[in-house]
Amino acid sequence: MAADVDKTTSEEERKIEENGLRTPASGSRFYRGVWTLFMLCAVPLVAYGVKYYQDTQLLKRHEESVRVLGAEGLFLFSSLDTDHDLYLSPEEFKPIAEKLTGISPPADVDEEVIQDPDGETLTLEAKMQPLLLDSMTKSKDGFLGVSHSSLSGLRSWKSPAVPSSSFLASQFRVFLPPKTKVDVGDTWWVVPSELNIFTGYLPNNRYHPPTPKGKEVLIHTLLSLFHPRPFVKSRFAPQGAVACIRAKNDFYYDIVFRIHAEFQLNDVPNFPFWFTPGQFTGNIVLSKDASHVRHFHLYVPNDRSLNVDMEWLYGASESSNMEVDIGYLPQMELQSTGPSTPSIILDEEGNVIDRRDGSSEPIQFVFEEIHWTSEISREEAARHLEVTFYPFKKVPYFPLPEAFEKAEAEKKLVHSILLWGALDDQSCSGRTLRETVLESSPILALLNQSFISSWSLVKELENMQHPELSEKARLHLEKYSFPVEMMVALPNGTIVHHINANYFLDQTAMNPEEEGATVSFSSGFEDPSTSTYINFLKEGLQKAKEYTAQ
Ligand SMILES: *[C@@H]1O[C@H](CO)[C@@H](O)[C@H](O)[C@H]1NC(C)=O
Ligand SMILES: *[C@@H]1O[C@H](CO)[C@@H](O)[C@H](O)[C@H]1NC(C)=O
Repeated sequence: MAADVDKTTSEEERKIEENGLRTPASGSRFYRGVWTLFMLCAVPLVAYGVKYYQDTQLLKRHEESVRVLGAEGLFLFSSLDTDHDLYLSPEEFKPIAEKLTGISPPADVDEEVIQDPDGETLTLEAKMQPLLLDSMTKSKDGFLGVSHSSLSGLRSWKSPAVPSSSFLASQFRVFLPPKTKVDVGDTWWVVPSELNIFTGYLPNNRYHPPTPKGKEVLIHTLLSLFHPRPFVKSRFAPQGAVACIRAKNDFYYDIVFRIHAEFQLNDVPNFPFWFTPGQFTGNIVLSKDASHVRHFHLYVPNDRSLNVDMEWLYGASESSNMEVDIGYLPQMELQSTGPSTPSIILDEEGNVIDRRDGSSEPIQFVFEEIHWTSEISREEAARHLEVTFYPFKKVPYFPLPEAFEKAEAEKKLVHSILLWGALDDQSCSGRTLRETVLESSPILALLNQSFISSWSLVKELENMQHPELSEKARLHLEKYSFPVEMMVALPNGTIVHHINANYFLDQTAMNPEEEGATVSFSSGFEDPSTSTYINFLKEGLQKAKEYTAQ
């Protein structure tokens, strides 16, 4: 295990050097591998998986499975066995049945929604330009040591699986806001994230997406136009989809959304290859009853030099070596060819013309222009979406130099997090922190009141040249230990208090024997990590007083 950590670390270092760490996808998930190891070392009792292995029955079954299937066979079996009970239910066997018979049973239609087959329809066109292979780090050595089969799914994916498809306007009601969200700027979860520190992340050894349910169905269908195996919920938090009302009037909404989903590009017998765009975003203009869709657009932003994270496995187990790379996807988008139009219309004499029979002349529709009575900018809506995905961003995080200036001016302390990976993308080091303590409301309030917050990458501080800042950076680095260090600093750079993330997790690891320990988290009680972090900040304030009193 230790050897693995070292290996991944140096690998990561090399990657940071080659790519910089400022891209959305580049705080690559490789950290998660590292961090997961740390987490498992630091808080072994927290992991759900442990309980299974205490179950001797299951252990026996596991040994037997290895004997019968071998490691590779068991790997495939496990990729289907989503509840890890070492038995396959009909539901779990479904992907194989579909593959062998070529027949897929109809997807779950959202029961509450009765689709009107005579309603308006629209056509979406899918466009993509394949990932630029030479934007990948591994291309520099000609993919030396990367087995051909690993990249086969990626190399063969050159165009959308379905270039164009027709939809009922009413299917897009999944993007309508819930009754409680009525104002521009309001956000809500279309597909909620189900992950937190205790559930960890979803397994890597899966090939087939779970059957989508409810609002996931449409998103799954939309992403399926690009590739047949989209996972609407990404393996790592924050997963799911969030939407925001950007503009409205009496009849229409403009809804902006952001989706954290990914694709599985390989299929049996190759090992899994995960393709994870930084995000899918876009907007939909639709009537408030979803009978009419004026415009739909979904795309992967391509304004950064790297926008896709890729991970692939090299062996038949969850702990197998995993390769990580990042790359650039020039285009992946879905766009409506025009507003939705009715399939049945009445002519002047009241006769029904069914446009679907194809015999009638094409009809020209004229659409009224939409005037918004209330709206915010696209950028502002995007920021609302971001804060919903990453609630710790409710307090601003400044670059370190700016944080020190502000702290000086406002006579506050600097709350600084020094870490190996980025805090506001899908990288691992920050994940545990931001999903628990940094977004809890008592901590947000305390940070807002007495601190200026900042986070930095170790690499950035090491490269800081400015003479005055480099002294502050040096003081920071002096107190740093891998992987994440939280610090409280005076405006002049002196660190008055600090705590390492692993030590912090040790402190807050819950003892399962303690009554209600796990219950308290899920029911939203204040969890031990929140109170520990509050204590840490308060101790920092206290120590700072002692310094300045001297
Ligand atoms: C931070 O404090 C300001 C002023 O006291 C307040 O307006 C703002 O809502 C606070 N923000 C948070 C996230 O608590
Ligand atoms: C910062 O200020 C404190 C108290 O005023 C002092 O003890 C400390 O030495 C100063 N640190 C630096 C780096 O100047």
